[in-house]
Amino acid sequence: RARVLSGIQPTAGSFHLGNYLGAVRQWVSMQDDHDAFYMVVDLHAITVEYEPAQLRERTRLAAAQLFACGLDPDRATVFVQSQVPEHTELQWVMACLTGFGEASRMTQFKDKAAKQAVASVGLFTYPILQAADILLYQADQVPVGADQRQHLELTRDLAQRFNHRFGETFTLPSAYILKAVEKITDLQDPTAKMSKSSSSPQGILDVLEEPSALRKKIMRAVTDTGSDVIADEENKPGVTNLMRIHSALSGLSLPEIEARYAGQGYGTFKKDVAELVTDAFAPIRERTQKLLANEAELDRMLAVGSSRAGKVARETMDLVRDRAGFLRPA
Ligand code: TYM
Repeated sequence: RARVLSGIQPTAGSFHLGNYLGAVRQWVSMQDDHDAFYMVVDLHAITVEYEPAQLRERTRLAAAQLFACGLDPDRATVFVQSQVPEHTELQWVMACLTGFGEASRMTQFKDKAAKQAVASVGLFTYPILQAADILLYQADQVPVGADQRQHLELTRDLAQRFNHRFGETFTLPSAYILKAVEKITDLQDPTAKMSKSSSSPQGILDVLEEPSALRKKIMRAVTDTGSDVIADEENKPGVTNLMRIHSALSGLSLPEIEARYAGQGYGTFKKDVAELVTDAFAPIRERTQKLLANEAELDRMLAVGSSRAGKVARETMDLVRDRAGFLRPA
């Protein structure tokens, strides 16, 4: 069975619709026919300012949402990155193979650094840690949104470089990106991706948000001139984004959606999008609350995952230590 691996940051509050449609939904569908590893990347979260007690809560909240979205601890290994120390160990080896200029070209670093008073070295080396995350598990596929494409290219380059220099060691991973949902955009600024760091919460649909708030945001989403529900990325990015959301949740194709709303204007269409989103999120919200009510059980589920992940990680690291020339303890 092919192996998949992916990760998500423990953010303040909830995952948003972009995380869900662009990534987590694929994680759930891939757990049945893949050897699946999914993690909450708390080490990545400390690349910007944070509070320790908050990080712990956010890590639990992220894990609870993953299980609530349908990840099953019997079918997928769901774990916490910092509970497997090999991630940082491999990160160092890979950092020593990464050119300074190469790391400087990562566009996400530039975006994130611009928002910090002081950008840390950890933020700069973030993509190298991500490469280590993926290579440690010999992943074949990495389900992510379009914003991770450049990080996946770096991961492949580093794997190839290590293999060339020290002998075949790492599987070359491919990004698994679904075109239709690769970039869900902000409801108030339909050319920007939906993102936690966006300026206004009005543009973001949080998975754990009240249905009435979700409905309001969708009804007020920026639409484009005209009144036809027609997919046109260039001229109607707002409507097209809503159509993609509709399509992902209803299973209808874009032409089928156009046909269904022909001559009806935006109002009915938006109402239906709101219903699809609230119907999709309601059970996730309920299950997340249940999982959070029993912290001990949640922590135990994660410990089981981290222990399974640790076994694979140690196997890879043993090989890496040999290949890289580290003396084995006698
Ligand atoms: P993060 O936590 O920012 O996002 C988690 C996943 O959600 C996707 N995503 C989106 N997809 C479509 N439309 C959007 N608007 C949208 N916003 C976010 C992201 O592409 C991602 O797949 N660096 C990663 C975490 C990471 C990781 C890894 C991923 C760490 N190690 C190893 C894969 C493999 C990140 O910050 O994702």
